Amino acid sequence: MSKSIFRKKSVSKILADVESGFSDSEHSGGSTHLTKALKVKDLTLMGIAAVIGAGIFSTIGEASFHGGPGVSILFVITAITCGFSALCYAEFASRIPVAGSAYTYAYASFGELIAWIIGWDLLMEYAIGNIAVAISWSTYFVNLLEGFNIHIPSYLTMDYYTALKAHEDIEKLTAGGNVADITDKMRNAAAAFVNAPGAGNFKLIANIPALLIVVAITYLVYIGIRETKKVTNGMVMLKIAVVIFVILLGFFYVTPANWSPFMPNGFSGVMKGVSGVFFAYIGFDAISTTAEECTNPQRDLPRGMIYSLIICTVLYVLIALVLTGMVSYKDLQVGDPLAFVFAKVGLTKISYVISVSAVIATASVLLIFQLGQPRIWMSMSRDGLLPKAFSRIHPKFKTPSFATIVTGFVVAIPALFMNLTEVTDLTSIGTLFAFVLVCGGVLLLPREAAVQGRFKLPYINGKFIVPALFIGAVIGFHRPVLELLSGENVHERFPLILFIIVSAGIAVVSFIKNLSLIPVLGLLSCLYLMTELGYINWLRFLAWLVIGLVIYFTYSYKNSKLGKDNGIQLPDNKTL
Ligand code: ALA
Repeated sequence: MSKSIFRKKSVSKILADVESGFSDSEHSGGSTHLTKALKVKDLTLMGIAAVIGAGIFSTIGEASFHGGPGVSILFVITAITCGFSALCYAEFASRIPVAGSAYTYAYASFGELIAWIIGWDLLMEYAIGNIAVAISWSTYFVNLLEGFNIHIPSYLTMDYYTALKAHEDIEKLTAGGNVADITDKMRNAAAAFVNAPGAGNFKLIANIPALLIVVAITYLVYIGIRETKKVTNGMVMLKIAVVIFVILLGFFYVTPANWSPFMPNGFSGVMKGVSGVFFAYIGFDAISTTAEECTNPQRDLPRGMIYSLIICTVLYVLIALVLTGMVSYKDLQVGDPLAFVFAKVGLTKISYVISVSAVIATASVLLIFQLGQPRIWMSMSRDGLLPKAFSRIHPKFKTPSFATIVTGFVVAIPALFMNLTEVTDLTSIGTLFAFVLVCGGVLLLPREAAVQGRFKLPYINGKFIVPALFIGAVIGFHRPVLELLSGENVHERFPLILFIIVSAGIAVVSFIKNLSLIPVLGLLSCLYLMTELGYINWLRFLAWLVIGLVIYFTYSYKNSKLGKDNGIQLPDNKTL
């Protein structure tokens, strides 16, 4: 029996397990095969469905407020970072075309413990990300209802913390004689606190629309992949059409003077938007969870990921330029920036159309993530790291039924009570970490010759390029970095210090081992973006990982199938 926490699952075993349909008695409950229904067009559309959502309809506002028109550069930087990761995902997806995404890839390349960590981390990306999207959906939905003169009490449309904070802020501003600084948004949230049933500071405040949309989407995902595909394709077409329409119409209302200065708060102002902008890109990787439902995953998954990323990048950069060109960046600190700018230039009807499309766009993101999460749990359960029920496939609908229902609860209940900014930040840091591991995992894959009809990551030798980039960065940035490291609260810079140490180490290893350039750049750029997400988020993220490790060592390690299988290896004995 393999006792190592780094025991690896060979690629041939992963593929053999799927081929045999996990037909052992442990996985009772009907067939374990999923329906193969997805082609490259569906995958690209699913990628876009997962990507364009709350990020471009909501979090871009805050990012533009800090970064000004220069936020468009951040969209390009982030897209390049995601592009490196997408290529690495694509390499894995073409070699290991089974459900489970980065979790399965990590099992083959790093071994069980890291696979568990990444599976746990993907929970953060999909489930916590979906909490953020559900909250954002609720905001637009409530706005829409207001347009129809339907009013839901505000204490049933937000989280407790937002209401309490607004209530306290208003009290402070009033006491300080700064009544002019009280915004409508604050008034509405504070009213929720005052009007909510309860006593003292104990009030019943919950986001009911967020709960209901998660329930509805979970039901759709539960009843089948074909139905999901049809709904997704329809929603995405509409979403793309609306985004293009916004760009084309918006350009007529651009005042070029708004683009100057391009970076009003400097580069550091631009980088304040990392969490919101990166959140906007999250999702292209989600399609890799549907590998077993693709007709030709080795060819189509890589294409789907890369096509969706390219399309979204073009749309995002154009939207960022339109937004910051139509109004001053200072006006953009709003939750519904796209609708807001059109209302601001007097096009209220257009603003209304955008609100409708935001509701549709964010619902389709919810759909993809609710689809992805159970499939990762299913993979982890198949490996014995989670209880067997998580890999049960519904006999009629052919979907991972139990895992889908659990996902529904895990997303719907916190969506009632949690705060948007916090969940966005956590999602971004968790996803960046997943990307770091995927890029790192590709570096551990043995090089293989290209196979006809399969994606192959281009190999560029990083021997000299990576050390040269590192030395160039040290020369170019040592002053600002030294300033940061000599200021107060240096312990809060530990992510930056970690980044510098890892970069130096990778530069040395690249020189010695001729590491492939693309995964190295992917790993370093994702790690760098993580350093921009702040000390508190790192601490929260580390706390999340510690909880995951406790579960691994108390349940998963003992129940791992790989451990029980006596480390079964197929005759080729090929581990990565
Ligand atoms: N990228 C997804 C969104 O913006 C998560 O909603």
